[in-house]
Amino acid sequence: MKEINWKERWREAYQQSSIGKARGNRDWIDFWNDKAEWFDEATLGDTKEPAILLEHVKIGPGMTVLDIGAGTGRFTIPLARIAKSVTAVEPSPKMNSRMKVHLDDQDISNVTIIAKKWQDVILGKDIGQHDVVIAPYSLAVEKMGDALEKINSATRHHACVMTWFKRTFWDYDHLWPILHGGEPFIPGPNYLYMVHILHDMGIYANVRVFFREKDKVFSSEDEIIEDLKSALYFTPSDEKSEKRVNKILRKHVREVTREEDGKILHHGTSMRVMVYWSKSPPST
Ligand SMILES: C[S@@+](CC[C@H](N)C(=O)[O-])C[C@H]1O[C@@H](n2cnc3c(N)ncnc32)[C@H](O)[C@@H]1O
Repeated sequence: MKEINWKERWREAYQQSSIGKARGNRDWIDFWNDKAEWFDEATLGDTKEPAILLEHVKIGPGMTVLDIGAGTGRFTIPLARIAKSVTAVEPSPKMNSRMKVHLDDQDISNVTIIAKKWQDVILGKDIGQHDVVIAPYSLAVEKMGDALEKINSATRHHACVMTWFKRTFWDYDHLWPILHGGEPFIPGPNYLYMVHILHDMGIYANVRVFFREKDKVFSSEDEIIEDLKSALYFTPSDEKSEKRVNKILRKHVREVTREEDGKILHHGTSMRVMVYWSKSPPST
């Protein structure tokens, strides 16, 4: 039987996915820069995700942590309180400036920020090995094989990648065909590809799947409609098509949201996955 090349399969699935095709060569960093303020408010004080990580990955006071795609510090900040130091790799300037504000406000001085994409970080030059390497919700890369190999080289003991699996906020299966001339929504590659890539590297990773529910908070219907249009990569061909889509989305929004204290809440659920492995146990 012919061996499956999972690294190549990931690349193909990434390129052929609806979002991969819609983005083309556009950089994810611009996307996250635009979302930095919203993301910070949405994740501020979220203790659940770091707690789930710590259930499986032991981090002690003498240890060093590398957080890839650190965002505004949801993991970096709580881990900096436990570990000896944290290196936060975060290429988005807006995410970085928000994280710096939190670090200053909370008097945290053991975090070093590397303002680069993971693909551009040079091991041994930009950073050394760390006891623990994490990449929570940040590895949107075409060359997943390279990214995982670099994570494995960068860690001394433990590594953990977290990713979304199914998210209901944007209702892609239902809305994508309506906004894209009937085309079905093709999802990107999921965590199973990562597990296979790691397996081919001789790494037998653990997987934990967990479920989260959350309200996304908006000030107006128009704001949700804009969020949907951007997440669904809708570019109107003319004024008529924009009006048609606005009307469809407004109806959809009214069906899926509720009002509370003058805000509009959109309840969403997501399956999330931790893929984690150990190279060798830490000595402390
Ligand atoms: C969904 S946010 C997650 C932030 C943080 N890890 C958390 O869970 O709160 C994704 C972050 O990954 C960063 N990112 C995207 N592509 C990246 C890459 N190739 N290398 C490093 N970081 C990346 C983005 O700038 C963004 O801050």
